[in-house]
Amino acid sequence: MMLNMETLGSVSTLQSRRIILFPLPFQGHINPMLQLANILHTRGFKITIIHAEYNSPNPSNYPHLTFKPIKDHLSKVAHEYPTNRDGTYFVRYLNKSCVDTFTDCLAGLLAEPGEERVACVITDACFYVTQAVADDMKLPRIVLRTSSLGCNLAYEALPFYSKTGSFYLTKQDRFEESVPEYPLLKFKDIAKITINPQGMGDLATNMLNQMKASSGIIWNTFKELEESDLETLSRDIPVPSFTLGPFHKYFPASSSSLIEQDRTILSWLDKQPPKSVVYASFGSVAQINESEFQEVAHGLANIGLPFLWVVRPGMVVGSEWLESLPENFLERMGDRGRIVKWSPQQEVLAHPATGCFWTHNGWNSTLESICEGVPMICSPCLADQPINARYVSDVWKIGVLLEDGFERVGIKMAIKRVMMDKEGEEMRERVSSLKEKVNLSLAEGGSSCRSLNNLVDYISSF
Ligand code: UDX
Repeated sequence: MMLNMETLGSVSTLQSRRIILFPLPFQGHINPMLQLANILHTRGFKITIIHAEYNSPNPSNYPHLTFKPIKDHLSKVAHEYPTNRDGTYFVRYLNKSCVDTFTDCLAGLLAEPGEERVACVITDACFYVTQAVADDMKLPRIVLRTSSLGCNLAYEALPFYSKTGSFYLTKQDRFEESVPEYPLLKFKDIAKITINPQGMGDLATNMLNQMKASSGIIWNTFKELEESDLETLSRDIPVPSFTLGPFHKYFPASSSSLIEQDRTILSWLDKQPPKSVVYASFGSVAQINESEFQEVAHGLANIGLPFLWVVRPGMVVGSEWLESLPENFLERMGDRGRIVKWSPQQEVLAHPATGCFWTHNGWNSTLESICEGVPMICSPCLADQPINARYVSDVWKIGVLLEDGFERVGIKMAIKRVMMDKEGEEMRERVSSLKEKVNLSLAEGGSSCRSLNNLVDYISSF
C-alpha cells in the first residue's frame, strides 16, 4: 500500500510556512529525512534542506524542495572512513565541523526577505549541537530520530561511560549472559554496538539530552509495534512524540539512493517461485572481513535456494568488490544466485518471490521487511543493529539471529529454520500480522495517520 494525497490530507489543510530540515549525511539517515520532507511538503509546508556536501542528495530528484549545501570539512578525515570501525567518530566529528556553517546558513535563511515565515527546524537526533543553535535563534527544534524506540531505551540504560561499559567488551567468557541494565541484550551485543564505549557514551548522552531539550520528537516507527516502549520513553523524555512511520510507505527511498539501484534483478525475481528467494543485504555502512564474506557465500550456496545478494563495493574489508569470492562461485551458482552492487530494496522485499531477508537490521531495513511481511535472518554489525536484531528475534519473534556470526553451518541452519521449518511458518504469520497492523496504522483514523495530523497541527501552532 502506497499512500496517496487523499490519505495524507486534503489541500484545504495547506500551510504557507517553511520548515528547515538538516539530515545526517549517511544513507540510513538521508532516506527517512527526505521521506519526511516529502510528507510535510504534501501537507502544504515549504521545505528547505540544509545538507552537508558529503553524500549530497540530488536536488534534481526533488524540484519541489529547496537545497542549501554547507561545508562539512569531512574531506579532512574522509580517508579514515574505510578503516575506522568506531561508528561514533564521524558523527561526533560532524557535530563539530558543521556547527558554524549550519549556524550561518540558518541565520541567512531566517533573514531572507519575502520568504514564508520559518516555523521550525527538524534536525537528525545525531546532530545534537543544533539544539543550542536553534535556541539562540529562538526557533523551535524538532528532532527526527531514525532508529527505534527500543534502541533509545537501550542507549539510555547501557553504562557506556562507566568502567562497566568497557568491562563488558572484554569479558568474552560472559558473552552469552544478559546485560543487567537491559536484559534483552547479551554482553556480546554490547561488544558489537561499539568498540569505543567512551565515544558511544558521549554521543548517546549528548543526543538524549538534546532530545529532552527539543520541542518534540518524530519517530520513524508505528505505535502498535513499540507500544510499551513508547509509554516508557514518553515518561523519560517528556516532550511531544510523533510516531507517524513507517515513512517509506508514504514515499519510497529510491530517489534518495546514493548508489544506483540495479533494477535488472526484478525480471530475474519474476522468474522465481513464490517465497523461494533468500534476499541478503547488509546496508550502507556495515563491513565484513574476507573470511566472513566467504562464509556468507558458502552459506548461500549450501542451502540450494535461489538468492539475491547485495555486495556493496567496499563492503568487504580490503576488497573492491567480489575478488574474495570462493573460486568459480558465480559459475557454480549459475542462474540460481544473483549478486548486485545495490538493489531497489523496497521493491525486492515487496516481490512475491522473496521468502526471507538476511539483514544487518539497520532500522530502515527492519521496518521495510516488517511492512512487506518478510521474516528475517539477523546479522547485526554495529550501533543500533544488535538491539534491533534482539527485538526481531526475541520480542517480535519474526526472525532468527545468527548467534555465532558468519559461519556456514549456522547460516544454513538459520535459513532452513526460516524458509523450511514450521517455526519459520509461524514467524511468517507473526510478521504478516504486523504488516496488517502497519497498514491499519497508516489508514485514515489509524495511529500513524493521527500522529501525522497532530504533527502538522503542532508545527502550524508555532
Ligand atoms: C544505519 C543504521 O544501522 C540504522 O539503523 C540507522 O538508523 C541508520 O544508519 P544503514 O546501514 O544505512 O543504517 O541501514 P538501513 O537503516 O537499513 O538503511 C539502508 C537503506 O538503504 C534502506 O532504506 C534500504 O532500502 C536502502 N537500500 C539498502 C537500498 O536501497 N538498496 C540496497 O541494496 C540496500
